[in-house]
Amino acid sequence: MSDFVNGFWGYFISIVAVGGVVWCVWLLYTQRRWLSTKPANGKVEDTGHVWDGDLTELNNPVPGWWTWMYLLACAFALGYLFFMPGLGEFKGQLGYSSTEEVAKQQAKMAEAVRPIYARFETMDIPQIAQDPGAREIGQRLFLNTCAQCHGSDAKGGPSFPNLADGDWLHGGSPEAITQTITQGRVGVMPPWKAAIDAKTAGDIAQYVRSLSGLTADPVRVFRGKREFANYCVACHGVDGKGNQALGAPNLTDDVWLYGSSEATIVKTILDGRDNRMPAHGDILTPEQIKILTAWVWGLSNKPETTASAAPVSTAPASAAPATATK
Ligand code: HEC
Ligand code: HEC
Repeated sequence: MSDFVNGFWGYFISIVAVGGVVWCVWLLYTQRRWLSTKPANGKVEDTGHVWDGDLTELNNPVPGWWTWMYLLACAFALGYLFFMPGLGEFKGQLGYSSTEEVAKQQAKMAEAVRPIYARFETMDIPQIAQDPGAREIGQRLFLNTCAQCHGSDAKGGPSFPNLADGDWLHGGSPEAITQTITQGRVGVMPPWKAAIDAKTAGDIAQYVRSLSGLTADPVRVFRGKREFANYCVACHGVDGKGNQALGAPNLTDDVWLYGSSEATIVKTILDGRDNRMPAHGDILTPEQIKILTAWVWGLSNKPETTASAAPVSTAPASAAPATATK
C-alpha cells in the first residue's frame, strides 16, 4: 500500500485491525460465564428489570451456535488479514492488488480493441478526421472523457475553451492538440491586485474591450492603453493577439473564455486566473489520443478547408462564435 504518506499510518492501521480482533476474543473470554449452557442453580437468572408489573428480563446464557459464529468470525478476520492486504504495508500472502486487477483488465481491453485502431495506424490526422468510422469512435471517446468539461458539443463554457471555433489558447495543430490531451495544460494569468487598483483595472478593461471592437469609453480606453503596455504586453503581446506558448489568449478576437463584460475582465486582472486541463496520457492509449486529436482537429477543419490545407490558427476571428456571453 503505497498510498500512505508515511510509515506511521501503516502501523496505526495494523494495530487497530489486529487489536480489534484480539479485543473481541478477550471480550468473549472475560464474559465466558454467560457461555455455560446450564445456569449454576438450574434456574435462569433475571436482570432485575421489571416492566408492567410482571414482565421480567431474563439473563439466558448465550447459545452455543452464537459462540461458534463469533469465534469463526474472529478466525476469518485473522485469516483475511494473513492472506489479503489489510495490515498497513503488508501485501498479504496471496499478493492481491486491486490496482493490478484493473491494469490487467485494461490491458485485456486494449488488446481486444487493437484491431479496430490498427486501421488508423498509417493514416495521418487529416485523413482520420474525415473517416466516418474514426469520427464515430472519436465522438464516443469525447463524450466519455472530455464532454463533462468541454460540453457534449465541444463548445465549452466559462473557463472551458470552445474546441470547435478555430480559436486556440495553446495551438490547433495536430501536434499541439496531441500534447494538450497527453500532458494537459495550465493557463495561469497572474493576479495584479497588488500593483493595479480597481479604477485603473476598469480603464484597462475598457481598452481590452475596444480591441475586440466592443463598445468602450474613449477617454478610459486612452488611459487603459498606457497601463496595458506596462503590465500586459509581456504575455498578451503589444497588439494583444496573445501568445500560444504561454497559453495567453488573443484579446482582439471577441472570443472569451470568461466573458467580455468590464466586471469580468476587471476580475481577471485583479484576481488572476488559474485554469487547468488535466493530462490524459495515463487514462487513454496513444491510439485513442490519436483518434481524439483527429476528432477535435476536425471540428475546426472541415473537409473543404483541409483539402487546401488551410492553417487553423489564421481562421478569421469574426467567423468564430464567442465562447461566453458578451
Ligand atoms: C476537468 C476538465 C477537463 C477535461 C476532462 C478535459 N479538459 Fe480540455 N481543457 C480544460 C481546460 C480548463 C482547458 C483550458 C486550459 C487553459 O486555460 O489553458 C482545456 C483545454 C483544452 C484544449 C486546448 C484548447 C486551446 O484553445 O488550445 C484542448 C484541445 C482540449 N482541452 C481537449 C480536451 C480533450 C480532447 C479532452 C478529453 C480527452 C479534454 N480536453 C478533457 C478542461 C478539461
Ligand atoms: C504572465 C503572463 C500574463 C500577463 C502578464 C497577463 N496575462 Fe492575461 N492571461 C494570461 C493567461 C495565460 C491567460 C489565460 C488564463 C486561462 O487559461 O484561464 C490570460 C487571460 C486573460 C484574460 C481572459 C480572456 C478571456 O478570454 O476571457 C484577460 C481579459 C486578460 N488575460 C487580460 C490581461 C490584462 C489586461 C493584463 C495586464 C493587466 C494581463 N492579462 C496580463 C497571461 C497573462
